[in-house]
Amino acid sequence: MSEGVDQYGVFGYPVSHSLSPFVHAMFARDTGEKMSYRAYEVTPADFTQRVRTFFTGGGRGLNITLPHKLAAVGVATELSERATHAAAVNTLTQEGHAILGDNTDGAGLVRDLCDNLGLALSGQRILILGAGGATRGILGPLLGLAPAELVIANRTPDRAEALAATFATYGPTEGLGFQQVPDAPFDLIINATSASLSGDIPPIPRGVVSSQTVCYDLAYGRSAMAFVKWAQAFGCARALQGLGMLVEQAAESFEIWRGVRPATAHVLAALKERTGSI
Ligand code: ATR
Repeated sequence: MSEGVDQYGVFGYPVSHSLSPFVHAMFARDTGEKMSYRAYEVTPADFTQRVRTFFTGGGRGLNITLPHKLAAVGVATELSERATHAAAVNTLTQEGHAILGDNTDGAGLVRDLCDNLGLALSGQRILILGAGGATRGILGPLLGLAPAELVIANRTPDRAEALAATFATYGPTEGLGFQQVPDAPFDLIINATSASLSGDIPPIPRGVVSSQTVCYDLAYGRSAMAFVKWAQAFGCARALQGLGMLVEQAAESFEIWRGVRPATAHVLAALKERTGSI
């Protein structure tokens, strides 16, 4: 590692597609923070040792991306409340002898929905498709917005029911299978399945989308296009992709590390241009 500049990075496998180095370089330049940030390809077998080596070598903070977010829970010596709820860590920070584990994904989504897109979700009906790790990471922050109802629908209904039960004390949430989704409009539909990767759309009733419904895919780029096209074909108000969430979760990590909140609007615009995403 080079001397004199605080070292940060992202661990993933694969990681070459990661936009995080681009985003954090813009944040550092804009805020005048002296730091470096690079992507490290780390296999699951090497993950724990590489994290320890990074921090004992003077590294200050890491973002953790797929497939390591669960393993990162075990490497952290302390967990934030939101990382505990998410059962996943995407941000590690060295503090003295401790390695703090946090999860900024849900906060990033909420910031994109509320601040960037101007949605007011209190008292609204939210439908989440999928009941995997991505859903678990966003449930706490979404329920914190006090929706009237948050329905989790999944191909495997048991997983949705289990997640709903885990988060029942945080708000009105229900888990069910795609076939049981009520055929009535939701205000916000979030696609948190990996179905889009294969171009699949979960078989949910057409009536869930009205001309007021906002549809949001947590993924971005080509893998989120199937859901966007489906939502547009059903006449939704807006169909969006998760690039804003990506930038906002990064801004949240940056603030944890540097104590400065970077501006995000022009970074998001630059990323849209770079990726061809909407
Ligand atoms: P992630 O961390 O991205 O959420 P995951 O934990 O593997 O990954 O969860 C993937 C989610 O996408 C699950 O909800 C999965 O449904 P199952 O629980 O039934 O497996 C969902 N999924 C994946 N492929 C799908 C498809 N073709 N149709 C519908 N749902 C799909």
